[in-house]
Amino acid sequence: MNASPLLEVKDLSVEVGGHDVLKSISLDIPTGELHVLMGANGSGKSTLGLALAGHPQFHVTAGSATLGGKDLLALPPEKRAQAGLFLSFQAPPEIPGVRNAVFVRTALNAVREARGETPLDGFDFLKSARGQSAELGLPKAMLNRPVNDGFSGGERKRNELLQLALLKPRLAILDEIDSGLDVDGVRAVTKLVANLRSQGMSFLIISHYLQMIEALEPDAVHRLDEGRIAEQGGLALAERIAETGYAREAPATAEA
Ligand SMILES: Nc1ncnc2c1ncn2[C@@H]1O[C@H](COP(=O)(O)OP(=O)(O)OP(=O)(O)O)[C@@H](O)[C@H]1O
Ligand SMILES: [Mg+2]
Repeated sequence: MNASPLLEVKDLSVEVGGHDVLKSISLDIPTGELHVLMGANGSGKSTLGLALAGHPQFHVTAGSATLGGKDLLALPPEKRAQAGLFLSFQAPPEIPGVRNAVFVRTALNAVREARGETPLDGFDFLKSARGQSAELGLPKAMLNRPVNDGFSGGERKRNELLQLALLKPRLAILDEIDSGLDVDGVRAVTKLVANLRSQGMSFLIISHYLQMIEALEPDAVHRLDEGRIAEQGGLALAERIAETGYAREAPATAEA
């Protein structure tokens, strides 16, 4: 049995656009656990997800990050995905000219190959993608359109969920997956996450939305403040934040 956590982030510092956004973050997620990351706007939550996923603009200046013992930081983004990491974007980008079904099938077959599974042909893929789309309330037509091109905000989020459901990563980081989703969409998130979690998948959920956080029954809640983990706790921490907000006392210095 492997006692070390699935995701192990140690003293991670990240620079983006000339700013030191994350300052020595440490965070562990054991296999099968669901952790929530909260924090004021601009505190660095998306930066953590993007740095772990390997976005080229986010430069790790110190620290380490491993997934299942593998050094994530040594891998290009696609190898991180093949190692079992999935990030759903806060603002999912459009990829004009690339058909959604082709994009998702390519990503899926790359991770299947890395897991030693046979690739899915177009027919089997579409069957499973259509089934999942129906489950997630994503119109089937979205599979034939270019990735996120002209998708509504909620459709983009459901399309991220479709990828999650099909790719079945080891760790999924969902960055404000609830934003833009209607009530049925949020229900689809909690149902899908509970289902995948029961299969042993781990999650880092970034959210401001207490009702969804409560429904997800997290194992731990972390509060990020100005690039550092300021507090860790359980659901009570999320409930306190929802009640009192993030407002801090006036800073000691007047520095910008
Ligand atoms: N490409 C970039 N260039 C310059 N600064 C950036 C860049 N990306 C992010 N930042 C800055 O890094 C800080 C953290 O941003 P980040 O997106 O991680 O915040 P967040 O906690 O996800 O906020 P939100 O709740 O609004 O999504 C912000 O001050 C932001 O302006
Ligand atoms: Mg963000």
